[in-house]
Amino acid sequence: MKQEVQTVLVTGGAGFIGSAVCRHLVAGGGYRVVNLDKLTYAGNLASLRDIEGHPNYAFHRADICDAGAIRQILATEKVDRIMHLAAESHVDRSIDGPMEFVSTNVVGTVSLLSAALDHWRGLDAARQQNFRFHHVSTDEVFGDLPFDSGVFSEESPYRPSSPYSASKAASDHFVRAWHETYGLPVVLSNCSNNYGPYHFPEKLIPLVIANALDERPLPVYGKGANVRDWLYVEDHARALEAVMTKGQVGESYNIGGRAERTNLEVVETICALLDARRPRSNGKSHLDLIAFVADRPGHDRRYAIDPTKSERELGWRPQETFESGLAHTVDWYLENGWWWRPIREQRFDGARQGLVGAQ
Ligand code: NAD
Ligand code: TYD
Repeated sequence: MKQEVQTVLVTGGAGFIGSAVCRHLVAGGGYRVVNLDKLTYAGNLASLRDIEGHPNYAFHRADICDAGAIRQILATEKVDRIMHLAAESHVDRSIDGPMEFVSTNVVGTVSLLSAALDHWRGLDAARQQNFRFHHVSTDEVFGDLPFDSGVFSEESPYRPSSPYSASKAASDHFVRAWHETYGLPVVLSNCSNNYGPYHFPEKLIPLVIANALDERPLPVYGKGANVRDWLYVEDHARALEAVMTKGQVGESYNIGGRAERTNLEVVETICALLDARRPRSNGKSHLDLIAFVADRPGHDRRYAIDPTKSERELGWRPQETFESGLAHTVDWYLENGWWWRPIREQRFDGARQGLVGAQ
């Protein structure tokens, strides 16, 4: 029997993870993907070049705060499921300007929930049963872990430290409230730090690769001792499909790669990969470019995910190790300057490329 194609509305599909999700779902063949994105500084339709003409892909430029526009798109596109990724996502920007984070991550999520609830209520019984609102969130809602102990489980208390993580925590609470209060069938996932192709070059890994290739300083906050748990973005996209299709309504799932590294280890590994692939003309290692700069205020020491529930209930496992994923990522940036060079040159200020603040 031919399986029915599901229409999935992906919000934030022009961003880093959202574009990986769109490419993954379209390639799988079982979905029609409707990408809804405001195209902020972080949104880039060039990341969707591989699928832009595909019959199972459509794009709408819209703001999740605009509930009227969202209602219309949900109805005209006959949406079966929603995967919500649209957000302001950069911690340093949230420190400089928190209101945009409250507006998109909190108010925008509530406006999307309200539109989704009306849409869900208007569906027939079978489509209501099948409907999911999948909220994509972060491990940063759980806050700061000591260097030497503890991991985040789904039961860990919420203790966000930054305006970004506080806004994501608030959005998680609203999603649960729409389930408990109105019965909207929701599922949540909280993932660790992602890396991979099409990652906006203000985040640590793409910033370090791009700066190293341009012979610029590699900014490491503080002593570089903070630990993050890294996951290759395509492994996250596979996990998100599993959560959306197999996750229990009302539940949340932690997703992570069991790949904890200090920031300095991450930067040193990138330098070693570049030394082997693109040696510097002066014969020195890229390590010489490392610059220790002023620390981020409220910088969480360590994040670490226990992904046991996702592994057990969803049958999901990452396919990449940190070493293989980082090698793919470095190769991708070496081969795809067409994507990241225009961003660095036209749309992005020097302060965020580590050009200021070196100690
Ligand atoms: P991103 O910043 O690369 O992309 C965000 C996208 O959302 C952009 O395309 C932007 O144009 C769009 N957007 C922003 N405001 C919007 C609005 N008001 N209406 C519609 N679209 C809007 O972010 P990302 O790194 O791809 O993260 C995606 C989601 O995953 C976020 O919700 C984030 O909290 C979560 N997450 C990210 C990571 C990570 O390591 N990057 C880890 C765990 C969870
Ligand atoms: P980032 O990529 O901004 O992700 P997040 O803050 O969501 O974890 O930062 C990852 C880690 O790298 C974090 O501990 C901060 C650190 N960092 C630097 O040391 N230098 C940089 O220039 C940036 C952007 C981040």
